[in-house]
Amino acid sequence: MRKIKLFLVVACVAMLAACNTKPAETEKEMKYENETIASIMERRSIRKYKPETVARETLEKIMECGINAPNGQNKQSWEVRVVDNPKVMAEINAVIAEAYGDKAEMAVGCFRGAPVMVFIARDLSYDFSAYDCGLLAENIMLSAQSLGVGSICLGSPVRIINDNEACAPVLERLGFSEGYEFCLCVGLGYADEAPEAKPRMKEKVKFVE
Ligand SMILES: Cc1cc2nc3c(=O)[nH]c(=O)nc-3n(C[C@H](O)[C@H](O)[C@H](O)COP(=O)(O)O)c2cc1C
Repeated sequence: MRKIKLFLVVACVAMLAACNTKPAETEKEMKYENETIASIMERRSIRKYKPETVARETLEKIMECGINAPNGQNKQSWEVRVVDNPKVMAEINAVIAEAYGDKAEMAVGCFRGAPVMVFIARDLSYDFSAYDCGLLAENIMLSAQSLGVGSICLGSPVRIINDNEACAPVLERLGFSEGYEFCLCVGLGYADEAPEAKPRMKEKVKFVE
C-alpha cells in the first residue's frame, strides 16, 4: 500500500513537472503577441535552400492561402503556375541559360536556388492587378513561414524572362492565359540560412494628428 502511495505521489509530481515544461515551439510563439505576428516578424527572404523540396500537400495549402488574399472586386486578377518538378525547372533554366549566353550564370541565379518556384501573372485588363498579385504573393510567403517553409519574393526573373525574346519558350511552358502578363515570382523551400531582419525605417510611418 505504501509503495502504491509513493508511486502515485511520484507519478503526480512527474505529471506536474511535464505540464510546466514548455515545448520549444510554445516558447518561440511567446516572443510575439500571436502566431500571425510571429510569422510576419520572423519571415525573411531566403537565398540559400536545402535541396529537399516541399511536399505537394503543403504547397497546395500554401496556394490556397495565396488565393484567399484580398483582391480588387474579387476579380482574382492573377494566374499562378507552381513549378515543383526539378525537371521542369531544369528545362526553364536551360532556356534562360541559352538566351543569356555568357551571362547565363547570372540569369539563372535570379531564382536564388529555391527548389519550388511560383510564377505569378497579372490580368492586364485590370489596373489594380499588380496589387492583387503582390497580396497573393505575401499570403503565400506568410503561410509558408507559418508552416516552416522559407520563401523569397523575386522580381528579377520577370525582367530576365520578359525582356529577352529568346525566353519566350519559358512563358509558353508556363502557359498563362491570353491577356495575362508574368509579373512576379515567389521561391519556396526549406531555409539553409537564417538571415537577420534588415533595419526598417520607422520614420516612414507617421500618425496624422
Ligand atoms: C517586389 C519584390 C521584388 C524582389 N526581387 C528580388 C530579387 O529579384 N532578388 C532578390 O534576391 N530579392 C528580391 N526581393 C527581396 C527583397 O530584397 C527583400 O524582401 C528585402 O531586402 C527585405 O528583406 P526581407 O524580405 O528579408 O525582410 C524582392 C522583394 C520584393 C517585394
